Amino acid sequence: MNRELRESFHREYMTFFENAERTRRWNPVNDIDWDALDTSGTDLQLATNAETFCGVEMFLPDYLNTHLELFGRNYAQAWFAANWGYEESKHSLVLREYLRRSGQRTEEQLHDYADTILAKRWERPYASPREMVIYGMIQELTTFVVYRSQRTLAIDTGHSVLADIYRLIGRDEMAHTRFYQRMVALHLDEDRAGTLHDLAHVLRTFRMPAEQLLPDAEARTDLMRSTGINGRVYLRDIVAPTLAALHLTRHDLPGPKQPPPATAQGTEASGFVAQRLVSGTTGPTTDRKE
Ligand SMILES: [Fe+2]
Ligand SMILES: [Fe+2]
Repeated sequence: MNRELRESFHREYMTFFENAERTRRWNPVNDIDWDALDTSGTDLQLATNAETFCGVEMFLPDYLNTHLELFGRNYAQAWFAANWGYEESKHSLVLREYLRRSGQRTEEQLHDYADTILAKRWERPYASPREMVIYGMIQELTTFVVYRSQRTLAIDTGHSVLADIYRLIGRDEMAHTRFYQRMVALHLDEDRAGTLHDLAHVLRTFRMPAEQLLPDAEARTDLMRSTGINGRVYLRDIVAPTLAALHLTRHDLPGPKQPPPATAQGTEASGFVAQRLVSGTTGPTTDRKE
């Protein structure tokens, strides 16, 4: 990476850090109104969702290892990883505390769950650093959309403490999204054709990490249902805002050189629809997972 790009990254990181320090610092101990938590009733679906998203956040060591392996010698990106890791570490912690303090999981169950999760490993889905920056951008926005839908569900069912937890997590995810968008914009300035090619590829093939980690098709389908992400939502809430933030349209994206590989049923909608979008053959289309 050339020096000019590294310096631009550093300026963006300083802006990100300054905003985080000024407006976004919170912690699971002091900033959640645990006294308001209703422990009298359980909500099976909300608890299962919170546990699943807690699990996805618990692959943090693998996410961090990957990030540092790729970017550890780049000052801005390495410091971003350290700061980002701190923020992400609170996401699984606060969801874990919610499950424990609400009485929906015991301490022992949570330790067992952590053992099960950490016995697996998340592998990075793309080879090149630039593709991984693009992947990070999409992943953060996807996570934001997931937490936003969970927050709505919590509000609608009268779980105000959980709703507030999702609000705080979601705000972090949006800040991460914006930082990654700035990184991708700088890559576009440096190598537009190459970055557009990578962007089209990642948008076509993106999968949430949980899809890779969950063992069977039924679990993946359940997860996708609980996240609220389907092909239509992927296009509307993830692909379209991403392109807009980068001042692009789908016509800027090169078409695929070959069709996307076949994937397991129940996990392919986002990639399938995105492939059609970036091919320019159609706009948002009927979702296959609804
Ligand atoms: Fe997170
Ligand atoms: Fe994040």
